[in-house]
Amino acid sequence: MTTFEHLMEVCLKRAIIYPDSEPHGAIAGFYDYGSVGSEIKRRFENEWRNYFLNVNDNYHEIETCSIMPEKVFKASGHLDHFFDPIAECGKCHTKSRADHLLEDVLGEKFEGLDADRLNELIKEHNLVCPKCKSQFKDIENFIMMFPVTIGAGDSTSLGYLRPETAQGPYSAFKREFRANRQRLPLGLGIVGRAYRNEISPRQATIRQREFTQAELQIFFDPEEEPEVPFDKVADKLVRLWPQGAKKVKEVTAKEAMKVTGMSEFFVYHLALVQDFFRRIGLYEHVRAYEVPEAERAFYNKYQWDHEIFMPSMDKWLEVMGFHYRTDYDLKSHSKATGEKMNVPGKGYVPHVLELSFGVDRCVLALLDTSYKKDDKREWFALNPLVAPWDVGVYPLVNKDKLPQRAREIQQLLKLEGLKVFYDSGGSIGRRYARADEIGVTYGVTIDFDTLEDDTVTVRFRDSTEQKRVKISDLPSVLK
Ligand code: GLY
Repeated sequence: MTTFEHLMEVCLKRAIIYPDSEPHGAIAGFYDYGSVGSEIKRRFENEWRNYFLNVNDNYHEIETCSIMPEKVFKASGHLDHFFDPIAECGKCHTKSRADHLLEDVLGEKFEGLDADRLNELIKEHNLVCPKCKSQFKDIENFIMMFPVTIGAGDSTSLGYLRPETAQGPYSAFKREFRANRQRLPLGLGIVGRAYRNEISPRQATIRQREFTQAELQIFFDPEEEPEVPFDKVADKLVRLWPQGAKKVKEVTAKEAMKVTGMSEFFVYHLALVQDFFRRIGLYEHVRAYEVPEAERAFYNKYQWDHEIFMPSMDKWLEVMGFHYRTDYDLKSHSKATGEKMNVPGKGYVPHVLELSFGVDRCVLALLDTSYKKDDKREWFALNPLVAPWDVGVYPLVNKDKLPQRAREIQQLLKLEGLKVFYDSGGSIGRRYARADEIGVTYGVTIDFDTLEDDTVTVRFRDSTEQKRVKISDLPSVLK
């Protein structure tokens, strides 16, 4: 059984993920993606773009700033609601998240409970400081946003690093709505950084202070919910864990309407989310947990957290939030600014369905669920869409025109749109092993026969099966 520590060691060794600013003593909660990790992450992000921005002609990508003025977060409610409950030890002053302390000891979720209830629970279960075993002080709330001073001298103002990308599309809504001929639904997506001053960042990229989100805000008219091509998803399976259910139910999207009580518009998008996970090889590890009202984010009417079972941790990890934010955000910004953001001819503002993916957690889930090890080798059996490279090209030896021919084949495959790298160092076995260790899908070896008959050996990472293929057939075989 692979432990999370082992997975992290592999990630460090293979330049997938490592702590930021290492030579200066890394700060908890900040991680970098290395030369291999960046490729995997970028592929995930591009698959996300390809999938979700093609759902509707009126779903678009935008890019907005990470620093936003204080007023945005006053209006959005973050300054009043976006905090974590801190339990501070009365003796050694170690600070921990109160809900996590309870979760660690009792194995249940306690997110979203208010300070009074958490105080009661800590007393009820006699929880003490994990370091020095002393009593905690009363729980206090800690604002999770990073403040930023904007400008210099007398003209400074206060801003914050955005804690979610979502606030960009809300601020941009009016302009985008007009530019896109006032059509609804309108989807505004961002793949970008968000920042949260976590009290106790932990478990590598699972709880970071700087992280990447891929979020799609879908603005729609609540009175005339948009028509969706529901037939396309009606028979697709989804995995749901509704409130009150004892276990996960796998049902078709059509049946999910009954199970969730949601309309076609919502279930259609939920089915797409799970289909996206299917596309990148995560569906069988996923479940959508219906978050009860007390635990929901302050802006959500429906909240289905998509969780993935992480083998190395032996537990479920939230990777995506399916959020019905109602008119909460546009109404709040409209009220704070006096700007009208109404549905044309109607007295109300559009509602928002948000699909919010934690990119770093999805990448970690891809790595964890695909990691394999036997007595001969270890490898990431990544779905080809999110593997760092499609093909490694290897000349059997570095002489007799083999490198030249290998370079030509590398170029041919690149022009076919495949992601290819070239490796000529060490024995061929060692080169296969290196590629397996970072999850490269195929290997193509150029040998002396290649020079004679224009064939190469193709090797598949997961089975190690090898096949002789004509160079002219190579692109289609690999694709
Ligand atoms: N935008 C939702 C979230 O950050 O959880």
